[in-house]
Amino acid sequence: MNSLNHLAIILDGNGRWAKKRGLPRKAGHVAGAKNVETICRAVYKRGIKYLTVYAFSTENWKRPDDEVNAIMKLFDGYLDDCIKNCKKNNMVVRLLGDRKGIGKLIDKVEKLENDSKDNTGLNLNIAINYGSRNEIVNAASLIAEDYKAGKIDKIDEDILGEYLYTAGIPDPDLIIRTSGEQRLSNFLLWQAAYSELLFVDKPWPDFDEQELDKAIEAYNSRDRRYGKIKEEE
Ligand code: FPP
Repeated sequence: MNSLNHLAIILDGNGRWAKKRGLPRKAGHVAGAKNVETICRAVYKRGIKYLTVYAFSTENWKRPDDEVNAIMKLFDGYLDDCIKNCKKNNMVVRLLGDRKGIGKLIDKVEKLENDSKDNTGLNLNIAINYGSRNEIVNAASLIAEDYKAGKIDKIDEDILGEYLYTAGIPDPDLIIRTSGEQRLSNFLLWQAAYSELLFVDKPWPDFDEQELDKAIEAYNSRDRRYGKIKEEE
């Protein structure tokens, strides 16, 4: 059995889920947001300490205004709920992404991060306005500044990791993408160096506890070698 400390999920297929039911795309995002809550509880029950969800990429701003606004409204409501239930749900919530680009949501995000930082339950990282290339470029420019100012005297993998949005968060053990597409779409490219990848056909709103258990079972059957060979070989 492999240890599963950090699960990351690319939430895909909300739009297709809605279309199949003759509903507007927005309804798919509402169902998707609800499912984040269900899966947070399920993940924690299974002893997984970190969950990262890719909810909105730096490229998603190219969608029609109407859809982007609906998604931002959902985040806003989700943040309100999380702030209200911060003690009860016991999650440590953190935003991964370019904070400058999320407008007035930033105040609520920072309040929630602050209110939840001493909680002891699930570590939930929400990737909003996130793009891995943007994250690496941002880290590189901060490193260049600090190097020039003499704050650091070497640049290596550990140092770079400390400048990423994910600083202090262990690399994901398993990355799941729902809804059939088989690509990472600019998600955790650095951190995924040794992650196991799993692509499931169900759209995100249909990814339930049973699907989660199937995913964990598939992950447990993987042979993680990190470039080494098996002891007996
Ligand atoms: C992917 O489906 C979903 C998104 C890009 C948007 C937003 C995600 C949510 C609303 C979940 C909410 C998360 C939180 C933390 C509240 P898609 O629209 O790309 O689906 P499609 O490929 O079928 O069109």
